[in-house]
Formats: sequence, C-alpha cells, structure tokens
Amino acid sequence: MKKKVIKGFWNNIEKPVYAMAPMADVTDAAFRYMIAKYGKPDVMFTEFVSCDGLCSAGRPNLMKYLLYNEIERPIVIQLFGEKPENFYKSALFARELKFDGIDINMGCPVKTVTKTGSGAALINTPELGKEIIAAAIEGAGELPVSVKTRIGYNSITIAEWVEHLLETNLAAITLHLRTKKEMSNVQAHWETVHEAVELARRTETLLLANGDLDDLDQADKMIEETGIDGVMMARAIYGFPWLFDRSKTRESITAEQRLSAMIEHSRLYEKMFDSKKNFAVMIKHLRAYATGFNGAKELRVMMEDVKSSNDVIAKIVEFRNQYGIESISSC
Ligand SMILES: Cc1cc2nc3c(=O)[nH]c(=O)nc-3n(C[C@H](O)[C@H](O)[C@H](O)COP(=O)(O)O)c2cc1C
Repeated sequence: MKKKVIKGFWNNIEKPVYAMAPMADVTDAAFRYMIAKYGKPDVMFTEFVSCDGLCSAGRPNLMKYLLYNEIERPIVIQLFGEKPENFYKSALFARELKFDGIDINMGCPVKTVTKTGSGAALINTPELGKEIIAAAIEGAGELPVSVKTRIGYNSITIAEWVEHLLETNLAAITLHLRTKKEMSNVQAHWETVHEAVELARRTETLLLANGDLDDLDQADKMIEETGIDGVMMARAIYGFPWLFDRSKTRESITAEQRLSAMIEHSRLYEKMFDSKKNFAVMIKHLRAYATGFNGAKELRVMMEDVKSSNDVIAKIVEFRNQYGIESISSC
C-alpha cells in the first residue's frame, strides 16, 4: 500500500509556487543570499551535490556547496548519484544540516554525470530511479523528497515517465520541458505539459514546470494556461536577483543599484567562500549585472580579469570617473 506523502514545507508555501532553479556554479550560497534579499522566491535549491562524494572521505571539500543562510528558507538540497544506499546516507546528512527538503537530480544531461548512470540517465533505468527515491525517502524522515527531471531521454515520454514517478511518494516533481538529448538546444516543450498535469492532479504530488521563462509575467501566463502547480526559473536570474520581486522589472533597476549589487555580491562571495572557490566564478555574474546603462559594455570588459572584491571596487571607481555619475544613470 502507498504510504502517506510527506509534504513538509511544500504544504506551507503559497500556490502556485515560484521556485528558483538549481544552477551549478551559479546559484551558490552568495548568489542565493542576493536573491533572497532582493526578490525572494517561494523555494530555493542548492547546486547539485554528489551523493557518492558526500559518502566519501571527500565530504569536507563539498561542504562549500551546502552552505546556506536562514533568509533563504525554505532551502532544498539537490543530490545526484546512482547508488540508493548513498541517497539514504546523504538524506540522513541533509537532516543533520537542517535542510527543508531533498531533491533528486534526474535531469542533468552532462556526460560526466550520465556516464555513471546518474542525472538524466535514470530516465533509462526507471526501476533504479524508484529505488533511489525510496532510499532517499527512508533517510529523509520528516523531510519532503522531490525530483527534478526531463520529459524523456532520446524522445518525449512525458506521460510514461511522470506516471512512473507518481507511483512513488514524492512531494513534488519539477519537469524541465526538454529531453536529455535536446540538452538546452531547443525551445522548452510547454505544449506537452498538460499530459503530466492531468496525471499529477489525481495524486498528492505537486507538479512544477521549467524552461525558457524570462520573467514573472511569462510564468503567470504558463501557470494560467496549463494549470500547473508552479514554475521554476533558472537562467533569467543572471544579473537580476530582483527576478522574483513583482515590483521590479529589468528596466526599473538603476545603474547605481546594479553597481552596488556588483560590490555587495563580490564581498559576500569572498566572505562566504574565502579561498574555497576561485573568484573567477564571480566574473559571469559581474558581467551580467553590467547591462542597460551607458558604458555597460566597457564595464563588462573591465570585469573580465578581476581577482577580488577590491579589484571590482577599484574598477567601478575607475568607471565612475571615466563616465561621470550622470552618464551611468539607467537608460
Ligand atoms: C549553468 C547551469 C547550471 C545548471 N545546474 C543545474 C543543477 O545543478 N541541477 C539541476 O537540476 N539543473 C541544473 N541546471 C538546469 C536548470 O535548473 C534549468 O532546468 C534549465 O536551465 C532550464 O531552465 P531555464 O530555461 O529557466 O534556464 C543548470 C543550468 C545551467 C544553465
């Protein structure tokens, strides 16, 4: 007999759900802090973390991925792997670390991940997928367990795959609306989601969808058209931690706000990661913030070789002197 689904925080957050997606090397604890401060989504996820790594002597090296701040809650740890016993152990560890939920990655298409049978490869081994879910649920205790996946491996098999997942006790499923084979090379297949919505409606499991949503207006439209329980957004957050704040648009953020965000984010990054993560990871963020004002292109070039928050500040001072305060007002 099917056991009761543990919903945890998923029961308490508003519906429809607006979730911040996990993005490796992007949504780390520093950026998530910025997001929580400037436009808090209903739920956030860590970057994916290897269960095998967490269950090995290498665990201390992975702890930088598991940092979070209280203001992020609810915060879900995302795990990848292919060994049920390591999901069980990692779930126990997630409880120790006081995460609000556990998400299983069944969608990553990257070869280094799929070649071991993890990520999207689990779509091809559905019974192992179920064992993994059961092991994670067993280790999770009162924490809810969810899955983020794709709508097929080589071709779209959304109904079959979602039906299979719904036979477990998942609190939520997020569908990235592309197949593994499609990577990120085609438009997300929003036209297919209704099949999954119908199946999930008969269960306690929440269904979220993800792919190509640029702003909350687009997200609202898809929620209305599809009847989905929620959406998850990823790349739209680049340079725009205000994404989930309904009172803000990309155009409404002034150059001053962007420059201060660059400094604040850089300082946070250094404070949180010290020497554990290379400052080079920050460059894509800094370049993404620098947009929409006079001289933004030049500022992006200036950010290409920064090595510390002090470098960022020095370049911004140089930029202000070069362009004058008026010329960097938003345009
Ligand atoms: C740089 C990058 C890193 C990603 N890392 C993860 C990850 O760790 N876990 C995961 O489930 N998905 C990951 N994804 C996929 C996103 O969460 C999301 O499913 C995908 O980008 C589609 O959403 P979007 O069109 O809103 O960007 C990543 C995507 C990008 C671009």
